[in-house]
Amino acid sequence: MDVYGLIGYPVKHSLSPSMHEAVYEELGMEAKFCLFPVEKGRVEEAIEGAQALGIDGLNVTIPHKKTVANLDIVTLQGIAEKIGAVNVLDFTENGIEGYNTDALGALKALKSRDVEVKGKEVLLIGAGGASTAISFQLASEGGRIKIANRTEEKAYKLAEKVSNVGKAEGYPLENLEELIDKSDILINATSVGMEEDRSLVPKEFLRSDLMVFDVVYTPLETRLLKDARSVGAKTVDGAWMLVYQGAEAFEIWTGEEAPVNRMNKALREKLR
Ligand code: ATR
Repeated sequence: MDVYGLIGYPVKHSLSPSMHEAVYEELGMEAKFCLFPVEKGRVEEAIEGAQALGIDGLNVTIPHKKTVANLDIVTLQGIAEKIGAVNVLDFTENGIEGYNTDALGALKALKSRDVEVKGKEVLLIGAGGASTAISFQLASEGGRIKIANRTEEKAYKLAEKVSNVGKAEGYPLENLEELIDKSDILINATSVGMEEDRSLVPKEFLRSDLMVFDVVYTPLETRLLKDARSVGAKTVDGAWMLVYQGAEAFEIWTGEEAPVNRMNKALREKLR
């Protein structure tokens, strides 16, 4: 029996077990995905324990993603080092490897809708964890990133860091209309719209040739996505990012291609 799991605090509402166990069933794998609530201060101990127990792979979630990226026992892979956050741990013969598949998940979610990022003007609203992962990934893919945030200093700081891998500029939230006018892709990377009928973007700022992506997935169709759809814009919801980060994790752990459609179906059934 293979054992995978999630460490975070709290973890009890996680959708990952449904998503991953649907894959195990589909592929006929004898495996289980477990939730491990781990308190702050016990993260390193938990990871070493998981390694000693022979656990095959772990997801990491709030509030531990940055902590894990700073542990000496974890070797960061790919863009995780630049982002400074880890959401996937792989226990290998060479040691414990840390990845950030949230970032890749966002890119793949866009690509699944035939959206090319290279050379595109991308506006991200928000400068927290989600925005950090997405902006690094899309900048290194050749997107021209603008980050607008309520606390403008955070937008400038993040843009400065992202400038090490590509093109990025920070802005205050007040310039939204002008910024959206000049953008091809608009991403809400804030929590605004979660369990509420609210959007930071007035509908009249949206246009049909804009690609609109919301990281929020409760509800699946946020106020922003509803407005975007009503003006004829292409949309991607936050569940796709969740599905693709999970699919990437599965591929890192098993070396096999994940059945993305099955994961998507399981996740959406759970969300509804
Ligand atoms: P996450 O890890 O999910 O990105 P986070 O790190 O807490 O979460 O970041 C939340 C982001 O949403 C921040 O950019 C935050 O803006 P501030 O930096 O100004 O706090 C943004 N955000 C949350 N609520 C907001 C609101 N009501 N209006 C504008 N921005 C908001």
